[in-house]
Amino acid sequence: MSFVRRRSVINLLKSRRSIRVFSPVSIPDEVVKLLVEVGERAPTFFQMYSIIWVKSQEKKEKLAELCRGEIVKNASIILLVCGDLRRMYRMLNLLEHKHVLTSDKHPVETIMSIFDAALTVENIIIAAESLGLGSVILDCPILYAPAITQLFQLPKGVVPLTLICIGVRGESPPLRPRLPLNIVLHEDMYREPTDEELKNFLSTLEKHMEYENYVKKYTGREVKYIDYIKAKTELTKETEKENEALIKYLRENMFRI
Ligand SMILES: Cc1cc2nc3c(=O)[nH]c(=O)nc-3n(C[C@H](O)[C@H](O)[C@H](O)COP(=O)(O)O)c2cc1C
Repeated sequence: MSFVRRRSVINLLKSRRSIRVFSPVSIPDEVVKLLVEVGERAPTFFQMYSIIWVKSQEKKEKLAELCRGEIVKNASIILLVCGDLRRMYRMLNLLEHKHVLTSDKHPVETIMSIFDAALTVENIIIAAESLGLGSVILDCPILYAPAITQLFQLPKGVVPLTLICIGVRGESPPLRPRLPLNIVLHEDMYREPTDEELKNFLSTLEKHMEYENYVKKYTGREVKYIDYIKAKTELTKETEKENEALIKYLRENMFRI
């Protein structure tokens, strides 16, 4: 591979941003197949994921009711990415030995399934970017897992994780901040960042999001970014109840830690 080509992949990665406004344009099926084909090339343990290509207008509309309406309605390609321990379970059954997925706890396989799905998602996003398309991933499938399961008739052991929305860019947002390298990259041993460093990052984030008008632009709400994050992560009785229900759902679907 030439140096120039390698640099172009790095430039692509350095300039990727989530796109939440799409121009509703139809994209050929071949593109979707190509994206998923390259998604499959991601490093993987046992390809413990499945992808539902949401094609029908009826399903898109029902999905838009649960997830971010405008994004889902205008995206040209919608892929529901699921962790899939069911297929692995069935394959191991065929080997006729006492296998780990029959047990009450299999943390490694559960985590690996999520890893597998995430790496595939990233491949798909980057491949879409290389074709000049924009994308965003949404977490609503896991938040509304039982409803999504019903809508797409997911069998036991197949858990909806995320939605990839891909399309023709209808906006050109700025790059969003990332933690400084010296907070993420540790040399030989873990270095605890100071409170000062963490506060500095929160302040950078807040300043950027205010400059971008992020919350107002995407939610229509007039709240400061930090208050938006606090509201999203607040521990309430309701969140505790939702988390208990989600843990129960995950365990019933083979995702057991
Ligand atoms: C697991 C996961 C779930 C996400 N869910 C949502 C979501 O529900 N809605 C949304 O607008 N963005 C979602 N995002 C995108 C992030 O908000 C986005 O990546 C982040 O704001 C950084 O912006 P950037 O991708 O433009 O750098 C999600 C990202 C990840 C990794």
